[in-house]
Amino acid sequence: MTADETLQQLLRLLADGDYHSGQALGKTLGISRTAVWKQLQKVQQWLPLESHRGRGYCIPGGLDLLDQNAILARLQPKSKTHLSALTVLMETDSTNAWLLRGGHTAGAVCLAERQLTGRGRRGRPWVSPFAQNLYLSVLWRFGGGAGVLEGLSLAVGVTIAQALEELGLTGAGLKWPNDVLWQGDKLAGILLEMTGDPAGECQVVVGVGLNVNMPEAEQIDQPWTDLTRMARAQGIAPPSRSQLTAVLLDHLLPLLAEFDQRGFADWRDAWLERAVGLGQQVDLQTVTRQISGRLLGVDTTGALRLEVEQGEQVFHGGEVSLRMRP
Ligand code: BTN
Repeated sequence: MTADETLQQLLRLLADGDYHSGQALGKTLGISRTAVWKQLQKVQQWLPLESHRGRGYCIPGGLDLLDQNAILARLQPKSKTHLSALTVLMETDSTNAWLLRGGHTAGAVCLAERQLTGRGRRGRPWVSPFAQNLYLSVLWRFGGGAGVLEGLSLAVGVTIAQALEELGLTGAGLKWPNDVLWQGDKLAGILLEMTGDPAGECQVVVGVGLNVNMPEAEQIDQPWTDLTRMARAQGIAPPSRSQLTAVLLDHLLPLLAEFDQRGFADWRDAWLERAVGLGQQVDLQTVTRQISGRLLGVDTTGALRLEVEQGEQVFHGGEVSLRMRP
């Protein structure tokens, strides 16, 4: 067993939230009590770990760890045909970066329990505490140049909302270009990173960060929410993170497999149905200026339609952000 596998096994044993003695843990894992203790030092940096003389160690409240087998078991057969590999890491710098480092085929999926330098849009960090949220990336290849990808990030937002709806969690809203909100606060973010030939064969990594159970203490520079709050408000039990992953992949993989044939035009209505702030006054911040106008929606490429003084103007994604007026 590698050190990472030992750590995974140890966390799985502690995931029930009960006390386990160092001796019993060592025996199950086939390692010494000192080796157990050393691994637990690592765990302590990520999670609250309690130790009690005579009783051993426990993770208060337990843990909902990602389970590769459970994810695979719940995936629809159609999704499995699109999936080339499913990797679940204990920690990595960024699941997007991990896939971008190369050697992966289309349909490779990477999940991590924790990201050390999770990446958000516009160079922002993505707060990624251990085993609380979903950090998921999928690699796909497209021929026909970067133009084929227009609107893809918006369609990914639709798949997140649809996956939540399938799980009985309603009311996720979409804010252009690709934020998923609930009751006005950020629930999920999407980061697409592309390499290759912008005019020919390119590879795209679709990264999704979905807040499931964000600890209050995390410092986040925008109003946020999570699935646990959403589920509680709707009187249902939140899904396990593995179940959530499987349902999300059931929506995301077919989208990626079919997007170059159908484009955003087929997703536009579904996006508009869930759009936040249609008809309202908004402020659009580009790199150089701020533009105010009334939000009209998006066109068939996913570009933003805004009514400004001079009439209708269309804006494409990139380094642009939209602010709703309170
Ligand atoms: C945003 O700023 O709204 C986009 C956030 C995207 C975060 C996800 S988490 C999984 C993947 N890996 C990363 O480093 N970023 C994306």
